[in-house]
Amino acid sequence: MLGLAQRAVEAKWPMVALRPVAGRYHPYDPAFIADPYRHLDRLRATAPAYYSKVTGSYLVSSHAVATDVLGDRRYTSNRMLDSSLRNRMFMRLGKFSPTEKQALDNTLANVSADTHQRMRNAISQDFGKRRITALLPRIEYWVDRLLDEAAARGRIELIDDFAAKLPILVVAELLGFPPRDRRRLQEWSDSYLVLVDPMIRGAGIKRMSGAFHEFDPYIADTLRRKQADPDDDLISRLLERHRAGEFDDAQLRTLIMMLMIAGHEVITNLLGNAVASLLRFPEQRRRLCAEPELMPTAIEEFIRFESPIQAVWRIAAEDLDIEGVHVPAWRAVTVLIGAANNDPGQFPEPRRLDLGRADNRHLGFALGAHYCAGPWLARIEAAAALSRFLERFPNFRGDATRLRWKPAAGLRGLYELPLAL
Ligand code: HEM
Repeated sequence: MLGLAQRAVEAKWPMVALRPVAGRYHPYDPAFIADPYRHLDRLRATAPAYYSKVTGSYLVSSHAVATDVLGDRRYTSNRMLDSSLRNRMFMRLGKFSPTEKQALDNTLANVSADTHQRMRNAISQDFGKRRITALLPRIEYWVDRLLDEAAARGRIELIDDFAAKLPILVVAELLGFPPRDRRRLQEWSDSYLVLVDPMIRGAGIKRMSGAFHEFDPYIADTLRRKQADPDDDLISRLLERHRAGEFDDAQLRTLIMMLMIAGHEVITNLLGNAVASLLRFPEQRRRLCAEPELMPTAIEEFIRFESPIQAVWRIAAEDLDIEGVHVPAWRAVTVLIGAANNDPGQFPEPRRLDLGRADNRHLGFALGAHYCAGPWLARIEAAAALSRFLERFPNFRGDATRLRWKPAAGLRGLYELPLAL
């Protein structure tokens, strides 16, 4: 019989198994979820690439090896090429329709190198520092609207009331979706989180599939409207490139879908993790309030300290060797970003939050060809959100001893963070 808590978890995060699993990597063990870093330290000390049966992949946890793997072109990020049982199960459980299969083939992770480059070029200006800085007044508008509602109540459930709402509104506006569609965009995007989880659960894949059959026609509909009546937004600009033959229909729809998904949960987690870290380190909170100009280094430290993305995958495109560990061709390597970002060989006293940390070469946005496309949006949005939050509610109170982390191996974020303002 499933317990109530587990049923609630599975309803919201259906890809998750709470039971501990075989081997040294137990990402769903409650002890791991509460504090992954002790476990990741042990894993780092075990082997440069530790084969985990449960993920069917080689786990990499040191900063040096993670950096090498992410920068090495002999790995591909196309997970369709993963020959492991995990991937075969994913495909079998998915029973994907041809359009769904086409969408999976067209994600930025899975397209060929030249299509990837074209897609990245198509979005690079809109996600560059200059354009995102120009978006700041709109970001601040949404931040203030959400915080006004909280101020009227005198309390906030930081995740649901703020951290989850803000990024959807911002990325929807940047793309050109109306704010009234926030709820369904969020629901559809959430169901795609199964793609960043190393575990396989049929229910999660089914939910993703269900979402695809609503999300894809919704995007097609939006494209038809923007074609007839273009606007000053990213979707309209991507349509121009599509007309110029830079990418086909399926690539265009998938790119839009991926941007919506990628621009959401990670920022929710960044904001929640950042405020939780401030509760855990009151002296760093006082420091940031006294020196607000520290915000840019603080954001990098929040990303390092409690990385919203904890793991990414690469597939060896030939027989490879990781410091003496043989990785056969077409097997997956899981780069444990959260472990690399807490490697004492790279970061002195990694479990100390230091908002002025110098030389913070964290891998929170990954590296190499698939380096995050949205770091400026993440940085500028998070800085606006946290600065306004601290200015308006400098005396916020919460309980850092009762943090409830979502059980997800690929992502790290809180279910809730109730605060008195
Ligand atoms: C705190 C916020 C964020 C974090 C920590 C983060 C982290 C990452 C990481 C680690 C990757 C690499 C995935 C891989 O190598 O497999 C990635 C890729 C990506 N991110 Fe972000 N991201 C954030 C925000 C955003 C935002 C706001 C957007 C834009 C809407 C975005 C768009 C993307 C895209 C499109 C990719 C795929 C890039 C490619 O494959 O070429 N991210 N992100």
